[in-house]
Amino acid sequence: MSEVQIEQTGLRSRMVGGLRAEHEGEMLTLAGWVHRRRDLGGLLFVDLRDRSGLLQVSFGPDWTEASSMERAHDIGHEDVIRVEGVVAARPEGARKDDMVTGAVELRVTRLEILSDARTPEIPVYRAPEDELPAEELRLQHRVLDLRRPELQKKLVLRHRLVLAARNYLDHNGFVEVETPILTKATPEGARDYLVPSRVHKGEFYALPQSPQIYKQILMVAGFDRYFQIARCFRDEDLRADRQPEFTQIDVEASFVEVDDILRWMEGLMAALAEVSGLDAPLPFPRLSWSEAIERYGSDRPDLRYDLEIEDWTEATADLDFGVIRSQVEAGGRVRGFRLEGGGRLSRREIDAIEKTAKAAGAPGLLWGKRSDEGASGPLGKFMTDEQADRIGLGVGDLVLVSAGKDAITSRTMSAVRDAVITALDLPRVREHAWLWVTDFPVFDEEDGVLAASHHPFVMPHPDDINDLEADPASVRGTAYDLVYNGTEFGSGSIRIHDPELQRRILRVLGLSEDEIEEKFGFLLNALSAGAPPHGGIALGMDRIVQRFTDSPSLRDTVAFPKTTAARALFEGAPMPSGRSALDELGLQLKAQDPSDRGEKEA
Ligand code: AMO
Repeated sequence: MSEVQIEQTGLRSRMVGGLRAEHEGEMLTLAGWVHRRRDLGGLLFVDLRDRSGLLQVSFGPDWTEASSMERAHDIGHEDVIRVEGVVAARPEGARKDDMVTGAVELRVTRLEILSDARTPEIPVYRAPEDELPAEELRLQHRVLDLRRPELQKKLVLRHRLVLAARNYLDHNGFVEVETPILTKATPEGARDYLVPSRVHKGEFYALPQSPQIYKQILMVAGFDRYFQIARCFRDEDLRADRQPEFTQIDVEASFVEVDDILRWMEGLMAALAEVSGLDAPLPFPRLSWSEAIERYGSDRPDLRYDLEIEDWTEATADLDFGVIRSQVEAGGRVRGFRLEGGGRLSRREIDAIEKTAKAAGAPGLLWGKRSDEGASGPLGKFMTDEQADRIGLGVGDLVLVSAGKDAITSRTMSAVRDAVITALDLPRVREHAWLWVTDFPVFDEEDGVLAASHHPFVMPHPDDINDLEADPASVRGTAYDLVYNGTEFGSGSIRIHDPELQRRILRVLGLSEDEIEEKFGFLLNALSAGAPPHGGIALGMDRIVQRFTDSPSLRDTVAFPKTTAARALFEGAPMPSGRSALDELGLQLKAQDPSDRGEKEA
């Protein structure tokens, strides 16, 4: 926590967290919350809490005024009190080494109760062995949960990270510009949150999924380098690493190439890592998207672990095993992991890994073990020793194999990789694995449907522009992602600055001329006003704080998060709207089927 410069305010002399033996003898007025109280009849001890920490304050008939002593017995947990007294060394034996202020206490002469607290629904004080209350309960009583020093520390770290980001970007010539919250839809692959207009009945603003289009327009307007700590809104299926509203460090710059953005962002991440006491050795390694998929099956591999996929299509070509042969004949490949010593995994453990493979879309997972008697298992039993040697399956080892089309085997092996890392407790080769994944394809194609792999503004690779209409799925783009320990921290690209090329991409994505004009006319209009080549990136602030604080959920990184059902439990949002408000907006609700409202809270 940062050292607070001016601690004295009208109602107190200072905060409690910095009190040490050297303050012995000082007369102070302190204020805060009753974290914990121990009433020994004659003597009463209270741990007083403020943002800076805890301090023991003691009440006793020898040093506390009689009326204060009487009131002291009535104070309860989480009351707000103000105490006057003298800093005293704690007697030998009563010092607490596990408390930073544990060498001293305040001997209270006078007590004032500033606010009575109702009995807290969830305890703020917890003994080390006490478990946290259930998350739903904590979210309902967020005001109490937020008093937890762990949570406060995370939010203070977040503040320091945002500050460091602002300073770094400012030093590098970036200017913070705010873009609208009531705006027009920006496609980032999620649904929009819509806001009805009262003045223009039947019309809606969209909340920004990102400031993407505005930041590009700012480049055309000549701002050269922009950033914003930007709130974004996306109505999408929520998971542990997603919130419906979240914050990006959003960046854009003119006259740049990919290397410029990556270099700036490496500097930014090094600055943020330093604030958090983490390692970020520069430069970060880079992998092309196709190499990442080939070696790890994923565009955000966790490179704390060394495990890589191997291609055994050739090595298994002479195997008399129908499953493999039919997949290869249909154009598939045989891809697998070799796990030295993996033979120790039990059948049950392998079955659990296979379940993960199936959840990822694979029909099953092939495996083989080898002992002195030879290879065994659904794949191994088809192998001679010579064939096992060829794929490096040694005695005591395990191979896990997926055969099929690349799209399936990649997804499968990526899921299997995560499962195996846990099952075998694989050693980490590094603690902080930073990675750029570059050259993402411009389009994703699933079941014949084409979508923008990032968003529709990504500049295609110049060599591939001619293939845009004929073979869009093969077009490489200039998009890149920043990955940290297997989490996507951010993504960006060089943008299209030629309005004609932008129109072509939108057409390839299936938009009609009318839709192009209606949705993106304002961007195309701006681009035709003389647009500089430009590019940028956005980093997810919440995910950065989550990973840097090793938090299980993104909800720990924001003061007032939503549940996975997109509800704010503390304030109770969303809520039905009154008839008159709807009338004013010109809206009428469709009759609601009660069964539609059975969403799951958590
Ligand atoms: P993208 O959609 O990849 O790119 O978002 C950038 C980063 O924002 C974070 N993020 C989220 N964090 C929490 N909850 C969510 N629901 C959520 N969605 C995204 C992730 C992600 O990497 N306009 C582009 C960026 C650009 O091209 O400059 C964009 O928004 O960390």
